[in-house]
Amino acid sequence: MPDIKLVRDDLRPPEEPPKRHFISIQDVTREDVERLLATARTLERAMDREVKKLPTLKGRLVINVFYESSTRTSSSFELAAKRLSADTMSIKAAGSSVEKGESLKDTAITLGAYDPDLIVIRHPQIGAPALVARVTSAHVVNAGDGKHQHPTQALLDLYTINEEFGRVEGLHVAIVGDVLHSRVARSNIQALKLLGAHVTLVGPPALIPRGIEAMGVEATTDIGAIAGADLVYVLRMQQERMAEGANYVPSLREYAARWGVTPERIRPGQKIMHPGPMNRGVEIDPRVADHVDALIETQVRAGLVTRMAVLYDLLTNGPVGVPVEAAVGVA
Ligand code: CP
Repeated sequence: MPDIKLVRDDLRPPEEPPKRHFISIQDVTREDVERLLATARTLERAMDREVKKLPTLKGRLVINVFYESSTRTSSSFELAAKRLSADTMSIKAAGSSVEKGESLKDTAITLGAYDPDLIVIRHPQIGAPALVARVTSAHVVNAGDGKHQHPTQALLDLYTINEEFGRVEGLHVAIVGDVLHSRVARSNIQALKLLGAHVTLVGPPALIPRGIEAMGVEATTDIGAIAGADLVYVLRMQQERMAEGANYVPSLREYAARWGVTPERIRPGQKIMHPGPMNRGVEIDPRVADHVDALIETQVRAGLVTRMAVLYDLLTNGPVGVPVEAAVGVA
């Protein structure tokens, strides 16, 4: 007897392809990263023009949802969407119905009712971007979830390094400071390893997670280890994530004395990066922050074009979409 099918295959509605998101560096390949960096480079050339707005994402809606404070990430995502002509909407926890106790799930479903093409979300809880991806039909970009991931920070850092050194492969990067509470450290370790860099973590014993060597890095408490690196990546002391009463370091003064990145601890030509915001005089000496070898402002500029690249890639289907050069009119 032939199989009885309740729904004939030829009458079944065509399934939509799964939505692509950018939630973790772990989810992307080296090829993905190289494509995004190349797109950002093309977009940077387009940003040299007098009129910087491109029509590429006209008619698309990008919603920025920030449940944690931000200057660089929120402003660059907003400007990135505007430069690509998308409509934008920004929701911050303060002043929203979060203050009346609304859950993230209900906020996401509410915003999803506007049919956004893409939602950018920063949230103190690990996994918040994945939840938004589950309950809406938008592409989702993680703008930082707790101490888990900050993938677009890693991307803009790779872009900065690549522009400065011409490569990432084979470079020695020392990441210094509060690794334990840092989503930037976790994303950057994965991204740097993906592109073939050698990574050494340096910091107080209580701020270097046990077993972190399993990520393919070296770890030491000796600040002298930064001397051998091509690049010193300084992390912020994240006091807002430190448990009340926990003594990770005896004091900030002691931290600055033992692990602060000072002019005496770096050598000429060594490049310095910091994701911001900086605690000047704690993890980084102001003379280092303002030094000609510091790439901190360059990182902010890279944030704009790399976030434009992420929006472009997700909303135009990346490599199978219109080539970015044609889309933005750069030969
Ligand atoms: N680096 C970074 O995420 O900075 P903001 O917190 O200002 O966005």
